[in-house]
Amino acid sequence: MIPFTAFAEVVAYAAGAALLAGAAGVSALYALRGRSIATLLAVVSAATVLATVAGIVAITLKMLISDHDRSVALTVTVIGGLVGLGVSLLLGHRLIGGTRSLLVSVRRAGESGRFRLPERRLPAELAELGTELSTAYENLDAARARERALESSRRELVAWVSHDLRTPLAGLRAMAEALEDEVVADRATVRQYHAQIRAETDRLTAMVDDLFELSRIHAGALRLSRQRVGLGDLVSETVAGTEPLARAKGVRLRGQAQGALPVEVDAAELGRALRNLVVNAIRHTPEDGGVEIVAGAEEGMAYVAVSDACGGIPDEDLPRLFDVAFRGEAARTPGGGAGLGLAIARGIVEAHAGQIGVSNAGPGCRFIVRLPLGA
Ligand SMILES: Nc1ncnc2c1ncn2[C@@H]1O[C@H](COP(=O)(O)OP(=O)(O)OP(=O)(O)O)[C@@H](O)[C@H]1O
Ligand SMILES: [Mg+2]
Repeated sequence: MIPFTAFAEVVAYAAGAALLAGAAGVSALYALRGRSIATLLAVVSAATVLATVAGIVAITLKMLISDHDRSVALTVTVIGGLVGLGVSLLLGHRLIGGTRSLLVSVRRAGESGRFRLPERRLPAELAELGTELSTAYENLDAARARERALESSRRELVAWVSHDLRTPLAGLRAMAEALEDEVVADRATVRQYHAQIRAETDRLTAMVDDLFELSRIHAGALRLSRQRVGLGDLVSETVAGTEPLARAKGVRLRGQAQGALPVEVDAAELGRALRNLVVNAIRHTPEDGGVEIVAGAEEGMAYVAVSDACGGIPDEDLPRLFDVAFRGEAARTPGGGAGLGLAIARGIVEAHAGQIGVSNAGPGCRFIVRLPLGA
């Protein structure tokens, strides 16, 4: 039995020596902080062995154990330390292998744009890092695809718009020249030319106006002056504004609202979006067909649905309908629209935190706009 004071002394010596060894280990870790994980793990093993050896030496100095015991203790410690070092190196090797394979995956992703997780089993943290990287690359991929689609639709838009503007401008010029040179002189033709020049000018003005609206939407510069209005009133106004077009085409137009439906919207902008939907519906509905606008509330959202008798839209066109400059085959005829109406409608509805969608229904298709209901 060793006396208490001697025991306390041994503890103090051993702790002091271990602390010194620990401090040396920490300093070494700091100095080597940029080195490989394997080196750092070797330092940890070395510090542990050093602390134990320092403790044993401290006890020997107090002459509490015999030389023989000391040799045995030191040998055991060194063997233990060597085994520990081996295990550390093995762990370091595994970590380095995992990191390298992750690095290879990242490099390959840089070349191919597709990230594939390494096949080997990674330690939890590296596996988590790999999963995060995988998600990040997927998001990046999706963003790139969106960017490409937007870019190509912009290019198409420029091509189509310049074509759409050039054709009527050439016609206007030809008519103006004919009038100027008095190539046409009979009153009826002159009147017809004047009317045509006016109509074409109106169409071009509307197209330029649409382009301006679209560029404001894309630039995020759409300033909404929101007011509380009843969605039913907006529907009535839209019906009143598009009635002459429907009558001229022989299409029955009907508007209907269920309830008060208060919404906080920019009435002018939302009216424009609804008008675009209704004008499309009338344009694509044959004579004697019907167009119906219904406003209501559902699951805490207000909605306006515009149904027509267009005969259905091809399924492959449905997802692209709201793209800038998209026009169905039949619509790509001279005098048709520029393919801006639905893109504008979507931009306006989304600026109001709403959603717009389309589906085939009944004798035609149904566009539906959902908006948050005002409190
Ligand atoms: N109610 C509808 N019924 C059938 N097809 C539709 C309807 N609304 C839109 N489409 C199809 O979607 C295309 C895009 O519509 P959008 O309103 O964006 O352009 P547009 O009417 O051709 O031209 P713009 O509106 O610029 O004058 C149309 O060309 C047409 O093919
Ligand atoms: Mg349109």
